[in-house]
Amino acid sequence: MGKRLDGEVSEANFEWSEGQVPAPGEGQYLLHNLWYSFDPTQVFLVGEAGRPETESGAIPLGEVMRGFAVSEVVESRHPGFQPGDLVHSHVGWEDYSVGDGTGWAPAYRIPSDVPPNWGAGVFGITGVAAYFGVTEVAKGKPGETFVISGAAGGVGSIATQLAKLRGLRVVAIAGGDRKCAWLREESGADVVIDHRKEDVAQRLKEACPDGIDIYFDNAGGPTLDLVLDRLRNGGRVILCGATSRYRANPPLPGPANYLQLIMLNARMEGLLARDYLPRVPEVVGALLPLLRSGRLKSKEDVLVGLRNAPTGLARLYSGANVGKQLLQMDAPKPS
Ligand SMILES: NC(=O)c1ccc[n+]([C@@H]2O[C@H](COP(=O)([O-])OP(=O)(O)OC[C@H]3O[C@@H](n4cnc5c(N)ncnc54)[C@H](OP(=O)(O)O)[C@@H]3O)[C@@H](O)[C@H]2O)c1
Repeated sequence: MGKRLDGEVSEANFEWSEGQVPAPGEGQYLLHNLWYSFDPTQVFLVGEAGRPETESGAIPLGEVMRGFAVSEVVESRHPGFQPGDLVHSHVGWEDYSVGDGTGWAPAYRIPSDVPPNWGAGVFGITGVAAYFGVTEVAKGKPGETFVISGAAGGVGSIATQLAKLRGLRVVAIAGGDRKCAWLREESGADVVIDHRKEDVAQRLKEACPDGIDIYFDNAGGPTLDLVLDRLRNGGRVILCGATSRYRANPPLPGPANYLQLIMLNARMEGLLARDYLPRVPEVVGALLPLLRSGRLKSKEDVLVGLRNAPTGLARLYSGANVGKQLLQMDAPKPS
């Protein structure tokens, strides 16, 4: 980590350093990092200029930036991991990492017949958030109206398709022509709203004349208020993320009309995918056949090479990514 944020995320926030490939100690393994996943909350690790590290959880300057990745075990002194295993874990932005299976999130193995890019995306933290958000938290039923923001991003692209596969009527909100075209042509969404060009309040009124049963919120911000206004009795608001709020300074005010939840016997509930990671085998069991048959698409936006990692994070804030933002590493496996 080189410099705290003082504007947009960019390469200037990071410094390069080179070192030896680390050696695993007893109870550890050595990983060759293959595919990185990006999440808007990684800005908290970079930290904001002028804000105390303890407040945002920023990584101390000089230490290695971290993120979720799928890696191959190349050497192991850990009884639970063997060379050749594909592992999903929270590691440094580096070619090789040493781990012991514990840390900010538990490491888990990706089945060997699953492509590593799927491991970092649809079977990583974003796919887990989408799967359990739609199936267990939203408990969507066929025919219900499901509105989703950030619909063409990593979480959103999977959640949108899963809601359709469960027979819900899906209203997908995203920003820009490329995202909206993908949603219209590939995701199965019934209605697509471009929040950058269209009047979202008016479009929600037209698209949901009888109200909204479920709102899957990835963006936070004013759309939440608009949805609360149109929520139906027994409605569910799933708080998955709030990209619009993470860097807002001063902080954005909360939803003004949350009292709707009382009047409608509705609920608003958070979802932390990290807590569901031990249940990844269920996600693999449910989604792998859908992916293999083409009924579910893993829409990915791929950068190549570790030097592009800052760009990977920046694209989540410019909105440039269509689908899950990934980065494929290009360093050779150690001999
Ligand atoms: N709860 C959990 O455990 C969990 C797990 C994973 C992710 N998340 C959260 O879920 C959300 C989606 O994550 P993701 O990785 O799939 O990201 P993503 O949706 O692929 O990328 C972020 C998107 O946010 C939108 N955006 C950027 N700046 C914005 C702003 N100022 N206001 C409104 N929208 C803005 C852009 O989409 P548009 O161009 O469409 O606006 C951008 O493409 C994030 O908030 C993330 O932190 C939560």
